Amino acid sequence: MNIRAAVLERFGEPLVVTDVDLAEPKAGEVLVALEACGVCHTDMYTASGADPSGYAPTVLGHEGAGVVERLGPGVSSVQRGDRVVTLFSAQCRECVHCRDPRTNLCLAIRDQQNRGLLPDGTTRLSRQGEPIRHFMGTSTFAQYTVMPEIALARVSPEAEPDRACLFACGLSTGLGAAMNTAQVKPGSTCVVFGAGMVGLGVVAGCRLRQAQRIICVDLSEDRLALARGQGATETWIGGDDTVDRVLEETGGFGADYTFEATGLVHIMRQAVEASRMGWGLCTVIGVAGKGETLDIVPRYLITGRRVCGSSFGGVKGRDQVPQLVGLYLDGRLDIDPFISHRIALEDVNHAFELMERQDGIRSVITF
Ligand SMILES: NC(=O)c1ccc[n+]([C@@H]2O[C@H](COP(=O)([O-])OP(=O)(O)OC[C@H]3O[C@@H](n4cnc5c(N)ncnc54)[C@H](O)[C@@H]3O)[C@@H](O)[C@H]2O)c1
Ligand SMILES: [Zn+2]
Ligand SMILES: [Zn+2]
Repeated sequence: MNIRAAVLERFGEPLVVTDVDLAEPKAGEVLVALEACGVCHTDMYTASGADPSGYAPTVLGHEGAGVVERLGPGVSSVQRGDRVVTLFSAQCRECVHCRDPRTNLCLAIRDQQNRGLLPDGTTRLSRQGEPIRHFMGTSTFAQYTVMPEIALARVSPEAEPDRACLFACGLSTGLGAAMNTAQVKPGSTCVVFGAGMVGLGVVAGCRLRQAQRIICVDLSEDRLALARGQGATETWIGGDDTVDRVLEETGGFGADYTFEATGLVHIMRQAVEASRMGWGLCTVIGVAGKGETLDIVPRYLITGRRVCGSSFGGVKGRDQVPQLVGLYLDGRLDIDPFISHRIALEDVNHAFELMERQDGIRSVITF
């Protein structure tokens, strides 16, 4: 079939919204009609050419929500008409990682996905017979996409697609970092560095885990206001003195939990140093630039601090994204403030400009 899609033709150039061919789903695959898709930093990062593992041409987009339109042979976990959230982090439920509660890093389709291919090593996207790759296995800047069923989370039909799509990336990443990875204990003190989509999700996750103090640190007053809306009890403008300030505020000890959601290695270091001696846990979520390293003075670790990383919030997508969406439907998550702009697919490059200006949290494409 012929579909409209936003194609990254060449790095560093605007996306081209054009017609491409999408083939029928093969075994284990599903045709999804997109209803909404968030525009994320990762899309812009790849489009810029800064991502060393990027490839082109490809249809970008990975924060999709839509409806199942057709099933390939053997698909059993979704049905025509189901509302689904797309997962760049699949869950096969069979590999050694899927069977272990300690990780969400499914191994089933990683290698092909990293190369922009579907699990059988080919693409369904093409133009005049030339293959176009599937970005992050999702390619949701398009009217339709074909994805493996193991990368689709079936969510409540009551979840509006423009909200549901937020759970495909940043929001679940933040919520999961607090709820799964760190498993914040009730009554604790948390410091969250960064108040973008991810950091705001962390703040909400800390609130849902009944943290007592949630300090959010960012450079933007507008974003700190959003953090207060998600449950931050204190908000600070970040600076060189942030670690000292955390120590002062915690009787000299540091915070029970710190979270880094900026992608900046010097802030990761602050997050480590602001965590409490004895049992402080620092969760690193931000993606640093290529070749950058994190400096940690070993004494911080010997005296009982721990550092861990979190990918997609440790969320096992097919099982847990529907639960996170359920928190929203139950009124326990206020996610409307995250949707700052609603745009058409044709205006996707405008969404990148808004993002560069830090105008709003998410632009959502509706189809
Ligand atoms: N681990 C994962 O699975 C995963 C998933 C999605 C995104 N990420 C990463 O998480 C990070 C955050 O993503 P986002 O979408 O929220 O990005 P974002 O750019 O919207 O948010 C980053 C925030 O950090 C703030 N900031 C910048 N410098 C700061 C400083 N010195 N002190 C305090 N705050 C500062 C900015 O003002 C901004 O609000 C990025 O690095 C992104 O690549 C990781
Ligand atoms: Zn994303
Ligand atoms: Zn798996």
